[in-house]
Amino acid sequence: MHNATKRDIKIGMQPQLLSVVTYTHLIIGDTAMVEDRTVDKFGTEDDVSEASLTRRRKIEHIEICLDEEVQCQRSTMFEDIEFVHNALPEINKDKIDLTTNFFGLRASAPLVIAAMTGGHPKTKNINQRLASAAEELGLPIGVGSQRAAVEDPSLADTFTIVRESAPSVPVIANIGATHVDVAPEAVEMIDADILAIHLNPLQEAIQPEGDCNSIGALESIASIVESVDVPVIVKETGAGISSDVAKRLEEVGVVGVDVGGVGGTSWAGVEYFRAQKEDDDLKAQLGLEFWDWGIPTALSVLMVLDSTELDVIATGGIRSGLDIAKALALGATAAGVAHPLLRQAVHGSSLDVVVELERFLEGLTVAMYLTGSEKVEDLSSKQLILSGKLVESLKSLGIDYQKVARGI
Ligand SMILES: Cc1cc2nc3c(=O)[nH]c(=O)nc-3n(C[C@H](O)[C@H](O)[C@H](O)COP(=O)(O)O)c2cc1C
Repeated sequence: MHNATKRDIKIGMQPQLLSVVTYTHLIIGDTAMVEDRTVDKFGTEDDVSEASLTRRRKIEHIEICLDEEVQCQRSTMFEDIEFVHNALPEINKDKIDLTTNFFGLRASAPLVIAAMTGGHPKTKNINQRLASAAEELGLPIGVGSQRAAVEDPSLADTFTIVRESAPSVPVIANIGATHVDVAPEAVEMIDADILAIHLNPLQEAIQPEGDCNSIGALESIASIVESVDVPVIVKETGAGISSDVAKRLEEVGVVGVDVGGVGGTSWAGVEYFRAQKEDDDLKAQLGLEFWDWGIPTALSVLMVLDSTELDVIATGGIRSGLDIAKALALGATAAGVAHPLLRQAVHGSSLDVVVELERFLEGLTVAMYLTGSEKVEDLSSKQLILSGKLVESLKSLGIDYQKVARGI
């Protein structure tokens, strides 16, 4: 039995989160996606097989992300970075070229639709809308973890729809670090150009049914790199990648990381709501305690670039085109966005997703114009003003922040 009661949790929690503890039922409001959870043709409430739990969890994650406040309370640290305004840009904004070399492939812009879903029949339409938008705009797209579909081929179409809807853009497959056996099949399933291995120890530690044995994960990643013939990247999902982790990944042949840093969706936060629902008071309390755990996205990008030659995708709390521009100025290859696209992908059309993505692209273009950057690569040599917590953190880590500021 856990010692903490719900009352204890309310007393001990951060004041800004008070509004969320009133949550008692998983499906509330008009955004419910699982109309009848007791009799689902893919499993009943009594069906507690691992496959059934995995499927149900995918839908719960989407519903919690839409219905609850699950963003980090800490920031990405991008607010501690400023461009130096150029009042004489001497370029034509309409001629700005966003084309990007994305792991050897062409992308129309340095913006990735980050891994979100697949693996439950209800996720097929969501992936279709995201992928159609990716194709329309020429942007790379990732899919959610594919393990369930490799093990149960009846779910494969929830992923294959991505390649069908986005035949000409870079598509990123997704598996966990221990899923060595399924790696080649995951890549083949969606004719992926890149394989992403996700790391989510924070989420597993808070998840009521989480798996917290990560012994041998690096060795498994090395085996996966050997077993597939596409470039392998590793992605965090909201807690960031440190210099040391990046170095170890580089040593085993990973070509890039998606830092998935703090400042956006909190997976401790998402699992907090699931723990609440399952009356797991200890896990719920831990979810609150570790809500903001990890390395902010901007800091994580700098840590990885300072210690390795890896290509970096900046994901986690990217909420504007200006955030993307700042990530590129730090040296990232691209930025990734997940949560801001979810509502449109679930309840809207692919056009709604396109409109949201265009908002990011227009912000990026304006930032490039105001810094006199005609090409994406130009951003990385621009002078920056760094301040606040970011500078303090870089100093504390022994990273030369003045070199970063000068754009070297
Ligand atoms: C509903 C949802 C489901 C996700 N599922 C996965 C997943 O299956 N695999 C993965 O690597 N990342 C997954 N992510 C994490 C995102 O790719 C991303 O790293 C994270 O949400 C931070 O980005 P954001 O702040 O823009 O949301 C998911 C994100 C969301 C919002």
